[in-house]
Amino acid sequence: MVFLSLQSEKENMKNLEAINKRRTFGIISHPDAGKTTLTEKLLLFGGAIQTAGAVKNNKIKKSATSDFMEIEKQRGISVATSVMAFEYAGKQVNILDTPGHKDFAEDTYRTLTAVDSVILVIDAANGVEEQTKKLMEVCRMRKTPVIIFVNKLDRDGKYTFDLLDELESHLDIKVRPLTWPIGMGDRFKGVYNIYDNNINLFSANKTKISTEIVSIDDVNDPKLDEIISEEPANELREDLEILEGVYDEFDREKYLSGDLAPVFFGSAVNNFGVKELLDTFCNISPAPRGRDTDDGRKEPTDPKFSGFVFKIHANLDPKHRDRIAFLRIVSGKFERNTFYNHVRLDKKMKFPNPTSFMAQDKSVIDEAFPGDVIGLYDSGNFKIGDTLTETGKFMFKGIPSFSPEIFQELENLDPMKSKQLDKGIRQLIDEGVAQLFIQQPGNRKIVGTVGQLQFEVIQHRLINEYGANCRFVPRNFSKATWVTSDNMEQLETFKRAKLSSLAYDKDENLVFLAETPFLLTMAEQDYPDLTFHQTSAFKLEKA
Ligand code: G4P
Repeated sequence: MVFLSLQSEKENMKNLEAINKRRTFGIISHPDAGKTTLTEKLLLFGGAIQTAGAVKNNKIKKSATSDFMEIEKQRGISVATSVMAFEYAGKQVNILDTPGHKDFAEDTYRTLTAVDSVILVIDAANGVEEQTKKLMEVCRMRKTPVIIFVNKLDRDGKYTFDLLDELESHLDIKVRPLTWPIGMGDRFKGVYNIYDNNINLFSANKTKISTEIVSIDDVNDPKLDEIISEEPANELREDLEILEGVYDEFDREKYLSGDLAPVFFGSAVNNFGVKELLDTFCNISPAPRGRDTDDGRKEPTDPKFSGFVFKIHANLDPKHRDRIAFLRIVSGKFERNTFYNHVRLDKKMKFPNPTSFMAQDKSVIDEAFPGDVIGLYDSGNFKIGDTLTETGKFMFKGIPSFSPEIFQELENLDPMKSKQLDKGIRQLIDEGVAQLFIQQPGNRKIVGTVGQLQFEVIQHRLINEYGANCRFVPRNFSKATWVTSDNMEQLETFKRAKLSSLAYDKDENLVFLAETPFLLTMAEQDYPDLTFHQTSAFKLEKA
């Protein structure tokens, strides 16, 4: 008995250590702000890659519109690059990759459910862009802690104080600079580290890590004028004075609750300001956090294993239908070859070859801890949002489907293959490629996506992987919203009145497909007791 409890005490300690060591996050940005470049530099620091360019080569070409080879390549390769793990400063850093292309935005939104914090990259010249706003809305909704990295200081950008104001007003979050740029563009001298009181001098260098750090105890020290010359030194002193007057002290609690974003400045391509970012990230970012389930919250320290699937990757080779399901571990310890409950299917499953993604290698692992993401080979058992547990039949909440923006009806071109088409489209929907809405009468399949590229991907995959020939006919809907109400009478009246604009999603939830934003506003006014949810995560909103 004594031995047993000692043993489990030891085990608990080991789990706790593993949890505290992990930092799982995503890098997000508007395309071209420098997400890939920054990811690569972080990997260089972490020793996960040896040369610059390794990540870049795997990136989907931004010009991709109908180049299927490129899409296929992306899908195949990004299994390896979807999760990148490395050790740095005593932490195991797990970076979850998010696709930059806006047509894959929904994939990014879902990946954000599996991270504990994010780094948001902003282009100093462009400031807050469209995609930045959308991604931040998701972070705000989930109260995800955010660190902002203002990139491309080696080029002329917006006036720093204006940019900070723009971040606060457009992203609806308080900011607090932790470093400060000294000039920009041609006059860029370096970054002042406000907390450590030192200056990192700028030297454009794309392959090496900048080591020229000069410590300065007091910005009024004349040494500063010698180092960066008088004018920039005075400018820096003035800026710092204003800054201390305008911004409150950095408050880690506010950062952790998603209310305050620390801001860093640098130039990713020149390896500049990245170390400050990574060091601070390792110091302040949250260890793995718990998640809500329909049976209360599960914390990482709960001894029983649980986790959820947030991404499914199809095999590149259509002859091998197996897929990889990405599972985020929330609590307990995952072990290879151990039976777990697949809650939705009410089925026991074990996994002989779970993989981890250390550096660029995929390797089979025996155990994994909260914060880790592992790959499970799947022959069609998993859907996005599925939960695995050691004990209990709860499901994790809040893996939302976002409101699609483009709608097309799927038409079967080969009546002999309708079964294949049905199976194919359902499997692709399980993978999260798009959303499917069924309209009556006639079981019409309306496919909704956030980008046009998705339709090409679906059509291509249906014919290549399932032998089902189809075409898409545009439908004139502009927005899908999920409808709920406690007022059954009003709900029924609404259903009768809007029959031609109603559909059901894959979980049989009622969806209103509004033809114009105005018609949605009208419906909201006409039926005040109905709630029109922008995402299918309304169960979470209500909780
Ligand atoms: P993304 O993943 O967010 O889409 O951006 P990515 O890293 O691909 O960067 C977009 C472009 O911005 C790249 O140029 C990259 O080299 C450049 N870039 C990244 N960081 C900096 C920086 O600190 N300063 C400057 N001046 N440019 C930066 P590209 O021409 O699209 O690609 P490439 O030919 O340079 O690879």
